[in-house]
Amino acid sequence: AKFKVFVTRRLPIALDRLYQIADVEVWLKRQPPPDDVLLEKIGAIDGLLCLLTDRIDRHLIEAGTSLKVISQMAVGYDNIDISTATARQLPVGHTPDVLTDATADFAWTLLMAAARRVVEADRFVRAGEWQTWEPDLLLGANIAGATLGIVGLGRIGQAVARRAKGFDMRILYADRQRSQIEDSLGAECVTFDRLLQESDFVTIHAPLTEDTDRLFSHSQFQCMKRSAILINTARGQIVDSEALYQALKERQIAAAALDVTDPEPIPPQSLLLTLDNLIITPHIASAGRPTREKMASMAIANLVAGLRGDRLPHCVNPEVYQ
Ligand code: GLV
Ligand code: GLV
Repeated sequence: AKFKVFVTRRLPIALDRLYQIADVEVWLKRQPPPDDVLLEKIGAIDGLLCLLTDRIDRHLIEAGTSLKVISQMAVGYDNIDISTATARQLPVGHTPDVLTDATADFAWTLLMAAARRVVEADRFVRAGEWQTWEPDLLLGANIAGATLGIVGLGRIGQAVARRAKGFDMRILYADRQRSQIEDSLGAECVTFDRLLQESDFVTIHAPLTEDTDRLFSHSQFQCMKRSAILINTARGQIVDSEALYQALKERQIAAAALDVTDPEPIPPQSLLLTLDNLIITPHIASAGRPTREKMASMAIANLVAGLRGDRLPHCVNPEVYQ
């Protein structure tokens, strides 16, 4: 008998490889499958291909009695209860590396857009307000020569640092451990507090964990320079939304650019959306077309390996193989 697989959204590539070995059901709606739908499906499938918008919690995993693999099309996996999966010897796959450059590019896109007020400038022109060249029109921050603070020097943080070298920036980073390649990146390891105090740009590249949950709140914004700009392309919950709103409103920091929010999507009535010194994009940092295609094919490769009982090429809980 063929394997049974549930794919929680339409993917940007054809699923031929999967159809050869599995009966595949794809959730075709734009919104994620509700919890009760996931719960109903999970009891009858061998493999689940999910997205970061699906909450794969303990009761769901425990209901997956025939489940052999969970494959997520994303590098982050904070939406999945990994310890329950591991306790059940269930491998979980993700899609690292292929999105590193696209995500670093986008962090830079946001950094530059916020520094030089590109979104405001576009609105200004469209509103018919461009009357002449003015010495003090839409003044922003300089990027070249500034100090960049990278929170989390993993794969994406390193790619952000490599790009910063071309801008002659001073590069600081804070991480739980010291990077082996800090010298080649020209990056200096500092405490989180010092990074906050000295950086002109602070960019977040850490996973969401208990340690990073609301890592940025009132006291962190108070430590930052009044001219500082915060960029978040990691996870919304790393920043306390209410504290960020106050910091931006009171100009405790100059600006922020977010590709991720808490909650996500951001509610249309959120006060954050009333601020001029904030840019928000809808969680699209990895959305280069070739990148998304590679992520999908990597997720399928993990899924197929799991169904066959092979080791997943990219497994977040390799302890299941011990
Ligand atoms: C996107 O946020 C990802 O984790 O891949
Ligand atoms: C601006 O356009 C300049 O020439 O300085």
